[in-house]
Amino acid sequence: MKRILFLSIILLSFSCAENYDRYKDVTASEKAYGIIPKPSNLTKNLGVFALDENVVINSSASLENEADYLVGILGVVEELSADDILNNSEGQHLIELKISDEVSEEEGYVLEVGYDKITIKGKTSTGIFYGIETLRQLITKQTVDGEEMFVVPATKIEDAPRFAYRGMMLDTGRYFYDVAFVKQFIDLIALHKMNIFHWHLTEDQGWRIEIKKYPKLTEVGAWRNGTEIGQTPGTESDNKKHGGFYTQEQIKEVIEYAKKKHITIIPEIDMPGHNGAAIASYPFLSCFPEEKTPMNENIISEATKELMANGTKKVVQESWGIKTDVLCAGKESTYTFYENVLSEVIDLFPSEYIHIGGDECRKDNWKRCPNCQKKIADDDLEGENGLQSHFINHMEKFVNSKGKRIIGWDEILEGGLAPNATVMSWRGLTGGIEAAKQGHPVIISPREPCYFDYYQDKNFASEPLAIGGRGPNTVKDVYMFDPLPKELSSNEQKHIWGVQANLWTEYISTPDYAEYMLLPRMTAISEVAWSSPNASEDYQEFLQRLDRFKGIYDKMELNYAKHVFE
Ligand code: ACM
Ligand code: ZN
Repeated sequence: MKRILFLSIILLSFSCAENYDRYKDVTASEKAYGIIPKPSNLTKNLGVFALDENVVINSSASLENEADYLVGILGVVEELSADDILNNSEGQHLIELKISDEVSEEEGYVLEVGYDKITIKGKTSTGIFYGIETLRQLITKQTVDGEEMFVVPATKIEDAPRFAYRGMMLDTGRYFYDVAFVKQFIDLIALHKMNIFHWHLTEDQGWRIEIKKYPKLTEVGAWRNGTEIGQTPGTESDNKKHGGFYTQEQIKEVIEYAKKKHITIIPEIDMPGHNGAAIASYPFLSCFPEEKTPMNENIISEATKELMANGTKKVVQESWGIKTDVLCAGKESTYTFYENVLSEVIDLFPSEYIHIGGDECRKDNWKRCPNCQKKIADDDLEGENGLQSHFINHMEKFVNSKGKRIIGWDEILEGGLAPNATVMSWRGLTGGIEAAKQGHPVIISPREPCYFDYYQDKNFASEPLAIGGRGPNTVKDVYMFDPLPKELSSNEQKHIWGVQANLWTEYISTPDYAEYMLLPRMTAISEVAWSSPNASEDYQEFLQRLDRFKGIYDKMELNYAKHVFE
């Protein structure tokens, strides 16, 4: 390494003589300025910065991570390798990364590109990271004096996000996605200047996180013997065993990976509904441990039929939909179990927020469960909704006692909102509006248009199978969405923390298909989350920028949907 450094310095001393004046008056291609998400302020200047072998990154030690990231990005320029772009060297053709109080926004940055120098300033390393993401998009191939080369067009960009919370959810419960894909999902979040990865880890159809105190959660709960074929209610079982889980070591690795990209991971442990896999592992969690798991008769796998014939009562669900066998909220043992699960989750994830679900908990069992009914009577609760609220309140108190806060889906409003809860509004905006009026932080994530498991084109028949009943959520629907509800006063709107899109995976079993459903809708939501509100007349212009942006999809070998490019 020392040797390379020495050689490069010699090289540099020759290159000092290189005259960059010839790049001063080069006009860059207009398209190269097409950044997504659209920056707050962009000035186009004359000249280009040539990405040649004399490029040197200069940054402080505190920005080593960002400098490394930039080296990786410049790797797309074939002539440049990490050995050429030495950090902290005194070079002539400089890319400088600098923490600066000239930038006032926490995640903001200023990127200045001249023919002889590039500077990225940020108040924080996060801002600088986003400046680097913008620089990545500016890199363009151009012919200068008959020579084809990579250049960056001269510009000054001042930029900062509209919303502090810019999230993407991946459902790894319905289908297990390996660590490699999870990291790729994180790469996409970073590419789009988004900052939250909401990791949906538990479902009726699979428990995906190792919990040391309760090993059966993954020994039993991470596996199912078959999966519904076709759109719900399905036709038959595929009779294929499916499953997998993340060890705590793997999760730490993913958290570190995300941290380098300035992304916080919010884990979701869904309760008290969506718990079929946990109940299969520990049947006492159900109101009725001796009752068989209610299943759709047509699509029970052969292996599960045999298990049940031999006396097994509780099994991991093999079909989609909202299930009745939920956690018993009337037994102390359920509360203790989930406190223990949450303790391990809290120890693992540095995030201040833990998502505890709260959605789609059917009350059928609670209505006939003596324990649940006794709890309602003893605590003078308002029926089953009161019990749900009691359950969430209890878990909130526990999470708060560990110095963390909860997020829940908008059902947590029913029966009364826990005092410190953040609400994720998914059944339209109503829940979000209500929570904001009550002064609670809100994440806007309505299924229309923020659910990316819905069809993205109205011609359903020509699309691969997706979830039915609603949609489509087209790229334009996503792009045109404004997360700030008009029903709120400007003061109430301050409770809107940000926006999130969700990839539920009932019908999405492969990385290829996941990419198809994500892109380019994720690119559209990134502009909703980062930039000023989008108007209809902006859409055509966005598509032009997207046409260039898809070059990055191609480089990353992503399987994106082509509708808007045809
Ligand atoms: C949800 O879609 N059940 C949050
Ligand atoms: Zn019960």
